This record gives sequence, C-alpha cells and structure tokens, in this order.
Amino acid sequence: GHKTIDELVRADEGLVSRSIFVDDDIFQQELRQVFSRAWLFVGHESLVPKPDDYFVSRMGTESVILTRDRQGLIQVMLNSCAHRGMKLCRYDHGNNRTFTCPYHGWSFSTDGKLVERPGELVGVPGHATHYKGELDKKQWGLKTVAQVVNYKGAVFATWDADAPPFEDYLGNMRLYLDAALDHRDGSPGGSEVIGGVQKWRVKCNWKFAPENFIGDLYHDISHRSVDIVGIGPGGGKGRRDASVSRSAICFPELGHGLLGRLPFYEEGPYAPQYARYPEVEAYFRQIHEQRERTLGSAMRVQTSVGTIFPNMSFHGRQPRTLAVFHPISATEMEMWRMYLVDKDAPEAVKEAMRHYFLRYSGPGGMTESDDMENWTGATEASMGAMSRELYFNYQMGVGHAQPVPEIPGCAVNGEYTEENARIYYRRWAQFMNGLSWEQLMAGAVRLEERAA
Ligand code: FES
Repeated sequence: GHKTIDELVRADEGLVSRSIFVDDDIFQQELRQVFSRAWLFVGHESLVPKPDDYFVSRMGTESVILTRDRQGLIQVMLNSCAHRGMKLCRYDHGNNRTFTCPYHGWSFSTDGKLVERPGELVGVPGHATHYKGELDKKQWGLKTVAQVVNYKGAVFATWDADAPPFEDYLGNMRLYLDAALDHRDGSPGGSEVIGGVQKWRVKCNWKFAPENFIGDLYHDISHRSVDIVGIGPGGGKGRRDASVSRSAICFPELGHGLLGRLPFYEEGPYAPQYARYPEVEAYFRQIHEQRERTLGSAMRVQTSVGTIFPNMSFHGRQPRTLAVFHPISATEMEMWRMYLVDKDAPEAVKEAMRHYFLRYSGPGGMTESDDMENWTGATEASMGAMSRELYFNYQMGVGHAQPVPEIPGCAVNGEYTEENARIYYRRWAQFMNGLSWEQLMAGAVRLEERAA
C-alpha cells in the first residue's frame, strides 16, 4: 500500500524515501500542497524596469506574467487566457500595454486607469454582435496571484490569500537574504540582473537543487576539478568561498537555511582576490569599506549559499546570484540563474562578472555541470521499482544542532552536517500534510522578539 508522508520523510532520523524524488503522485500532490500555497520567487524588478514591461516566469509548472503596470506596480498573473486557456505571452519578455490572445483575440489590461483590477478583460471581438453585449467582462479577467511583494528588488508571490506576509514567511532568514539583495549599503534598489536569465532543463527531481544550496558543503569533493583548473572569481585557482570558514545555519521552523557566517563575526580587512582584474579589485575594496561604514555590525552576517523554501536559492557574497528551480515532472526540472550586480558598478566590473558567471555557473559553467551530473544520476538510479523503496541517508550530525542566541529561530550545526537538509524535508512534509498556516507558522519567531 501507499506510505504516508510521515513514513516517507522521517526527518528526525535522517531518513527520506527516494520515492519523493521520482513518484508521479507525490509530484502532483506537491503542485497542490507546496506550489499553490508557498511564497515563490518569480523574478527581479530589474527584469521589468519600465511601465508595461513584462517577463514571463513560472510558479510551479504554471506560466505566469510578471509585469510592471503603468502605475509602476509589479503584478503577477497566470499566463493563460480566460476564454480557452491559450498562452497569452509567447515571448520570454517584452513591453505590452495590453495582452491580446492569439486564439480569438480577447485582450487584458493592467492599466489602473482603465481597469479596477490588474488582468481585467478589456477587449472582446464581437462583444456587441456575437455575444449580444451579454458577456460580463468583469468576470473573465486573468487569474492573478493572491499576494505579491517586491522584497528589495526580488519579487515573490503566492496563490494563497491566507499565506502570512512574506516577511513573516522569511523570518530571520532575511538577514542572510538581505546580504544578497542589497549588498552594498543595505539600501534596496541598488542591484540589477545582468546578461538575461539563463534557463535550462535538468533530468532530475527539482528538490535536489535547493537541498544542495541549503548547505551541502559535503559535496565539495564534486568540485575538486574546479579548484585545480582555476576559474574562480579572480580568474585564478580556487573557488570563491574556499577561503571563508562557513557554518551550516538554518531556520528549523521555516525550512530555510544557508552556508555562511554567524552574526557579529569580525569581518576583518578586505581580502584581495581579483589580482587579474585591478578595476574589479578596486571596486570590491571600495564596496567593502562602504559596507563597513554604513552597515557597521549589521554587515556581520555573511551568506555563501542559501535556500528559501521551497525552490529559490542565492549566493549572498559578491559575486551574487539568484536561482530558482521549477518543477517540470517528478524527474525533470527547469533551472533559472540570474546574476546580480550593483547597478552603478563600472562597466569593466560588470563585464568581468559576466565572464565569471559564464565559466563558473549556468549550464556551461563548471560547478553547475558537476552538480547536474550528480542530481541526474541520483534521480535516474532511484527510479526503479527496487531502488525507490529505499531511503536516502541524511544522518550527518543528527542531534547536534545548537540555537543561535543572537537570532531567534536560528540554529547552527557545525560546518559539515545534514541538519539543513533535514529541516528542509521536515518543512516539505508539513506542507504535504496540508497543515494550516496557523500550524505552519506556530514556531516562527522574528528578530524583534528578542527584546521581549
Ligand atoms: Fe484566448 Fe479564445 S483562447 S481568446
């Protein structure tokens, strides 16, 4: 018979059934229980800088339109015509005042001057004649998300009207996400995505990626070749974070986690790493000093890589990246990478970063190819009738997590541990079991509560 979610995910024991990475029924359940409810990353505001700009994104398996309306607000709508479902936007991005369906020509608008709510139906060919004026246009707008937030340039949305505000969902993980989004001086809006969005498909279950980014330092061995050939940020040997001591930090009640530095560590002087690019070196040195001046002790958290439950990950240290892992089927995902730079950085810095991203991350990048091989191989070797009955082992460091007193809701479990993966799958199981938001948020605490 079918196992229950609690039988499949025994997080406290460090056991997770392989079937949750390959099973079609579980996948359909995920789309309903996780992707229809959780806050999902849909893009960055710099992808739609001007009014009427749009960027076609995804939420779960569904295509959505991320657009900036004429009032400057970000809107997210299902990319599917209300009449017979045709995809409205067939380009990846562009600029449109109204969205007109190619099938029968219905058109929809986000202009607050024309419509009461974004995505309203404004044009129906033959409305007066074929429909005898009887079609109620107000009833047949595009489905819009229940909530959307522009969090320091990163756009998150949810289909669930009952979901808590994004900042509560994020909890104190925001200290670490902030380091990526408003790296320079803590003020939002200073970053942009360069070079477009890299998108590619991988024949693996989508959860392998966020699990890897949430704190799998153990897989470092996979990237040994990268250390040898020399494609690091500075163009030389070694990887970007190899010199930084990291801890596996997690937010057990929320399912988020990262590799990074605990708060209030001593940042120390700028460590040179761009010897081959003097302009980049000078720029990052200046940013470092600026951060020290404006942020003071607040800068003293640092993210190497981290994951926001369920499917968004990021690099918080320069050079910064954002990633999202879209489910396609139980055994395939579409991976998107975006590369963040300071908007007003010198062109030479942006160019050096673009080259670095290409050789290091993305489908042609060396670290990513290493990971893709592992995730594809693990998915493939777990699909069989025999192998899917087995459990993966996540037992490293069970029982060794310690709270981090400075950050309520935060725990640390050394450097090499599978704690972060355990809390991620525990969270996944809570969503899959259909817990109410009240239950899901019962243990959440915020930084402000420390004083109380
Ligand atoms: Fe869009 Fe008919 S499907 S107008």
